Amino acid sequence: MIDNTINDTSRIKDARYLSKVIKADEAAALIPHKSQIGFSGFVGAGSPLYVPIAIANRAQKLHAAGNEYKISIYSGASTDVDLDGILAKANCVEFRTPFNTDPSMRGRINSGETRYLDVHLSSLAWQVECGYFGDMDFAVIEISGITEDGKLIPTTSVGNNQAWLNAAKKVILELNINQPKELEGFHDIYVQAKPPFREPIPLKTARDRIGTPYMSVDFDKVVAVVLSSTDDRLNSFTPLDEVSIAIGDNVAKFFAAEEAAGRLPKGKLLPLQSGIGNVANAVLAALSKAGYKGLECYSEVIQDGMLDLVKDGTVDLASASALSLSPTAVEEFRKNVDFYKEHIILRPQEISNSPELVRRLGVVAMNGMLEADIYGNINSTNVMGTQMMNGIGGSGDFARNGYLSLFLTPSVAKGGAISAIVPFVSHIDHTEHDTMVVVTEYGYADLRGCSPRQRAQKMIAIAHPDYRDMLQDYFDRACAQPKPGHTPHILSEALSWHDRFNKTGSMKK
Ligand code: COA
Repeated sequence: MIDNTINDTSRIKDARYLSKVIKADEAAALIPHKSQIGFSGFVGAGSPLYVPIAIANRAQKLHAAGNEYKISIYSGASTDVDLDGILAKANCVEFRTPFNTDPSMRGRINSGETRYLDVHLSSLAWQVECGYFGDMDFAVIEISGITEDGKLIPTTSVGNNQAWLNAAKKVILELNINQPKELEGFHDIYVQAKPPFREPIPLKTARDRIGTPYMSVDFDKVVAVVLSSTDDRLNSFTPLDEVSIAIGDNVAKFFAAEEAAGRLPKGKLLPLQSGIGNVANAVLAALSKAGYKGLECYSEVIQDGMLDLVKDGTVDLASASALSLSPTAVEEFRKNVDFYKEHIILRPQEISNSPELVRRLGVVAMNGMLEADIYGNINSTNVMGTQMMNGIGGSGDFARNGYLSLFLTPSVAKGGAISAIVPFVSHIDHTEHDTMVVVTEYGYADLRGCSPRQRAQKMIAIAHPDYRDMLQDYFDRACAQPKPGHTPHILSEALSWHDRFNKTGSMKK
């Protein structure tokens, strides 16, 4: 809901901007049909909400009057229900990239009404800046204040904000007076030049600051400042269940074995990346339980689990692009914001997810997935090969370049009707070449150094017992063919499990 009575301009310290203050519906009216818009927002954090609501209202009125009105949306990652959700419901999104978790937008994408492009989160900003998608017409960016010299203070996410401010022809700032003033100082904004002038990123450890705490904008491009008062409204995580606890414990066991083998520094590991979702949250809890102290995280998002680890000292430094917290965690964050400022750095996603930095820092990548096949190919995005779930997000940035690359999943989905380990994945986001370790509640399959046939046996061993014999039978028959080859498959059966699920509601025979 837009509150048009907000008139607190005390956070605008540069008086020039006062003349730009207008209401959300006036700002929305500036945005023509077919505009390409870069919004702030990363895993639900730091999205503008008033301007998107006003755009949706306007689109509905225009549609009712028989006029066309569609926009293209570029973001950091997923946004709020009052951005993706409300715009999808108004059916005014022609194009969407790079990541979405909103069910209404997912529906539009899967029905083909909205064209969706699934891009690695580290790549979108420079691709836009280099003109791969044409001109960006508007940037609509949430901020928590404007400094005396016209610099912008970000809120709970950095994402692609600076890139959109640079690329857009016009800028709308949504100044959210409800975001804590103390957010000033959490951010480290560093901008890379375009090739051929790009230089090495001067970051040597996860805790280095290499930029400034503020975003910059060309004042002449700013067409509106909209005052708002909203919360980041992220769902609370479901309480840890037996399966996710077991997955977390298996990751901790794997780390202990790596330490014992001298491949990870004892008690310190290497900078950790933790993906999104419930399983990732459970892994973080397992690290705390295992007694680690003073760890570093070089990740893209700080969710509730990581905040808990910062609080209890398991993690000393968490570098990411967003603080994506549930209401309870927001309360904790606000109460102890000065403490967290010493332990958290928020960066542009080009830096938090930089393939070059992930490789150089030796990041340990841990990501969720939908399904893996017996050879270690991973599907993170398309249910049954066709239905977009959320997008690849940063999983590719980290998995491809990590010192270690782990994929985590419960062994079954939908009450056991779906096996997460299948003969052949129905869509490939990460190939066997980038998958080092797969973890379920039944253990971990360490695929490093293994040939495809060795991989298959390790993967079958961590599948759900209900599916192990079926997988072994498939693999044995594939190997028994006249010319089994390097990666044995029975092509006519490779996707039969998915086909059976679509026809009967279960992968079981
Ligand atoms: N087939 C169909 N549905 C499946 C499935 C499969 N093989 N595996 C999981 N699901 C469903 C679950 O049933 C659940 O559905 P629900 O929300 O209706 O209950 C949903 O997917 C989430 O699964 P869950 O087991 O709770 O895992 P998660 O919260 O860890 O999410 C992904 C898993 C793959 C959806 C999530 O990790 C993701 O979006 N990954 C891609 C982006 C990414 O990795 N970013 C990381 C960088 S931060």
